[in-house]
Amino acid sequence: MSFQTEIVNWYLKNKRALPWRDTTDAYVIWLSEVILQQTRVEQGLPYFNNFLQNYPTVQDFAAATETQILKLWQGLGYYSRGRNMLFTAKQVCELYNGQFPASYKELIKLKGVGDYTAAAIASFSSNEARAVLDGNVFRVLARYFGIAEPINSTAGKKQFQELAQSLMEGQEAAVYNQAIMEFGAMQCKPKSPDCSSCPLEQTCFARKHQLVSGLPVKLNK
Ligand code: ADE
Repeated sequence: MSFQTEIVNWYLKNKRALPWRDTTDAYVIWLSEVILQQTRVEQGLPYFNNFLQNYPTVQDFAAATETQILKLWQGLGYYSRGRNMLFTAKQVCELYNGQFPASYKELIKLKGVGDYTAAAIASFSSNEARAVLDGNVFRVLARYFGIAEPINSTAGKKQFQELAQSLMEGQEAAVYNQAIMEFGAMQCKPKSPDCSSCPLEQTCFARKHQLVSGLPVKLNK
């Protein structure tokens, strides 16, 4: 079985039930992805639910004051995220008449939306074939394929991006992206992963060469 098929099968069997996986509403996905930047799922979940309850649509969000947003954001840290979100919500209302964009090309223009977030929203909301690259994906790919190029070097980023995108070919983009991130978060963990229970153990480069704890490589810049 291919790497991709193993990853998706693992996901269908082991995934956590998370509320933002049950929607294709780009606004809701945006909300979850920005909250989850630099924040663990368990910590972000109650914030996500609270925001969605208070602001069910991007219009509701855009009508809030900065004080209201920052009050709900209290405790999450990186407060510029909350401020950027208010700016973006207003932008979406003005430029897109409140229809949150669902294509990578439009999403990447929005404030606070980088490569990862644009790919995540485009794939989850409209199944656009844009591979996500976050810490989880870097780790899974570096270990399984034995990539020693630093994940934060220009050459490394390009190599990982191309590999990630090629692996997505022929896959359901939304499911595959969720699957590889979840696999990194739950199975191919940063520290002491349980390789003996991993469906990819037999074909994993890092496992074979005892490099699990040495990959991925990150340069101290
Ligand atoms: N972290 C960032 N995005 C996520 C997602 N869609 N599901 C689970 N964890 C995440």
